[in-house]
Amino acid sequence: MDARQLKIQAAGAALEHVRPGMRLGIGTGSTAEEFVRLLAEKVEAGLEIKGVPTSERTAGLCVELGVPIHSLDELPELDLTIDGADEVDRELRLIKGGGGALLREKIVACASERMVVIADESKVVETLGRFALPVEVSPFGLAATRIAVEKAASALGLTGALELRMDRDVPFETDGGHFILDASFGRIPDAEALSAALNSIPGVVEHGLFLSVACEAIIAGPNGVSIMK
Ligand code: 5RP
Repeated sequence: MDARQLKIQAAGAALEHVRPGMRLGIGTGSTAEEFVRLLAEKVEAGLEIKGVPTSERTAGLCVELGVPIHSLDELPELDLTIDGADEVDRELRLIKGGGGALLREKIVACASERMVVIADESKVVETLGRFALPVEVSPFGLAATRIAVEKAASALGLTGALELRMDRDVPFETDGGHFILDASFGRIPDAEALSAALNSIPGVVEHGLFLSVACEAIIAGPNGVSIMK
């Protein structure tokens, strides 16, 4: 089974959580896009939901496929968010932001009663950190923020390259107009401590550690779907 089939399997299983009338946060990335495609079929067949997309990219796909969308200001309390992840550990800690949507994804997930992750089994890790941690930063003071992130990480014994994410020749800009530093720290044994340290740096807008946010992960592998809670 190829990678896309696994994403479709996980996305299909997540549809079972969706009930008529739900206010639904809709994630970003290739797995979330498979979810949008399947959701659109249900909507076409008569399912009524109100979607809140986590990125302009997802909003565009929803509009294209006829999934009704609203802003988070219109619907500030959501029932459920379905989103992908770059990594998930056994405690349902996540790294997100590979698609650059981590700020809106975290805001939407935290405005939701429940967040369910959809992923293929390649995303499951024993310890977070194989995937470079995206850190969304203000363009103002980029150099100072980079140094502050390096110092905070190094105080926790974490070293490694911080790469400014690029989009061809210019820095990649998030939907909020920020930049992303991808931090290749390697294993992150204390994600809570790193999260707190990054949150205390003024130039850091948000980071891709989602801790105590997800309540379930639907993981697709060659032998079917398994649930992590
Ligand atoms: C976007 C994300 C995505 O959920 C994450 O990158 C996973 O994407 P994909 O499903 O394409 O592997 O956090 O910011």
